[in-house]
Amino acid sequence: MEFDIKDPGLAAGGKLRIEWAERQMTVLRQIRARFEKEKPLAGVTIGACLHVTTETANLMLTLKAGGANAVLCASNPLSTQDEVAASLVKDYEIPVFAIKGEDSKTYYQHINQALDMKPNITMDDGADLISTLHSDRKDMLENVLGGTEETTTGVIRLKSMAKQGVLLFPVIAVNDAFTKHFFDNRYGTGQSTIDGILRATNILLAGKNFVVGGYGWCGRGLAMRAEGMGANVIITEVDPLKALEAVMDGYRVMPMVEAARIADIIVTITGDMHVLDAVHFNVMKDGCIVANSGHFNVEINIDALKDQSNGVRTIREFVEEYSMNDGRKIFLLAEGRLVNLSAAEGHPASVMDMSFANQALAAELMHTKGKDFERRVYSVPEDIDKEIARLKLESMDTHIDVLTAEQEKYLASWEMGT
Ligand code: ADE
Repeated sequence: MEFDIKDPGLAAGGKLRIEWAERQMTVLRQIRARFEKEKPLAGVTIGACLHVTTETANLMLTLKAGGANAVLCASNPLSTQDEVAASLVKDYEIPVFAIKGEDSKTYYQHINQALDMKPNITMDDGADLISTLHSDRKDMLENVLGGTEETTTGVIRLKSMAKQGVLLFPVIAVNDAFTKHFFDNRYGTGQSTIDGILRATNILLAGKNFVVGGYGWCGRGLAMRAEGMGANVIITEVDPLKALEAVMDGYRVMPMVEAARIADIIVTITGDMHVLDAVHFNVMKDGCIVANSGHFNVEINIDALKDQSNGVRTIREFVEEYSMNDGRKIFLLAEGRLVNLSAAEGHPASVMDMSFANQALAAELMHTKGKDFERRVYSVPEDIDKEIARLKLESMDTHIDVLTAEQEKYLASWEMGT
């Protein structure tokens, strides 16, 4: 079996951590038990380009239990948990191509090695596997039935490919499932971003001016959690609806160039590029901490930061101190890569449970129905979404009401008014 990981000797620690995550992944566990019996993915090769974490390991084990040949490469150069990669290879015989801290050349080499396994279904987090397939590796396209996509950024890229007519197979947008973005993007990103900042810096958040760039689901979650830690939260936005929502949620809203003047911490979480640029670095206070929790490391213009500085040193792991030409210091976390997965462990398992339950069921759907799909981006069907929510509630021992016959009739009628 081919693989490329840091050190197979790390497997024992990884195995324990995978088991720890499994305990929290109650929905995925039930899917895995069914997959073991029914083998719905027998003989299907699934190429996954995901963050190599304990939660992803449990997804890989679920796909394998369903009969799939699963191969995994990293969806980010800094998010790989090397001991997890080792355990997947040594204990579970799943080929992994991922090393934490790999350079860009190795990152794409690993994507290519995963594609060499001729996947029938692709599973992306950010669409790098699919974009490589559609550019440098067109030779592998004929094997592919369809794909799935985990994240907002990836879905945006894929929809733009479909709009331009260049997407060559159907893709299910897992991100668009309610049981994904309502929970993973909001509570997962909210908690894990704070976790990454605190592990990297060990700063006190109480009383700090904490700027959140972007008030999508991830930004909302982060703002909510930062406020809970006692920070003064400021939101920046370009969308008037989201900005209005932020105002009515009780936050101060202002342009980034104003927020940057008073910020102690700024986190970008927009999905767009250069949210922090030269004009913002110019006005930041001495000691300002900047981090990114959006998918790609494009949100902070690091070249502009370098241009205004005359030296960089790593003052703590994942903290680079930039000495600005005018004497100020600005601290960049995790090289501008997603701080929650670089400096911490990403979202907790109990929320990834629902995201990856969607992934497993989307792969099953693509295998069984993909032949009838068009070359476009599909949502996760409502019945899958509702079933995942139902199973999650059940595992939390939370029960809900059911409509009476009278109520159902009322909801289906129009005759009854005042
Ligand atoms: N994305 C965010 N958190 C993650 C995690 N723990 N595992 C995989 N992908 C993630």
